[in-house]
Amino acid sequence: MIVCVCRAVSDRQIRSSLREGAQSMSKLRADLGVATCCGKCGPRVRELLDEHRSVEARAAGVMGCACAAA
Ligand code: FES
Repeated sequence: MIVCVCRAVSDRQIRSSLREGAQSMSKLRADLGVATCCGKCGPRVRELLDEHRSVEARAAGVMGCACAAA
């Protein structure tokens, strides 16, 4: 589904960028151009970023990664 209408960026593209290492809104803006025009997609992009961080945090906890506690 298209998340950013202005730049024609889908949720799949955003998730892919997150998996490839984008860790912030500024990186997503730079890589994909999301939230750089009208800004209406910003809240949804932020949700996807937060979801990704939450999944990563849970995975780190399950795997007992010491860096998660730092
Ligand atoms: S919908 Fe993303 S900048 Fe307009």
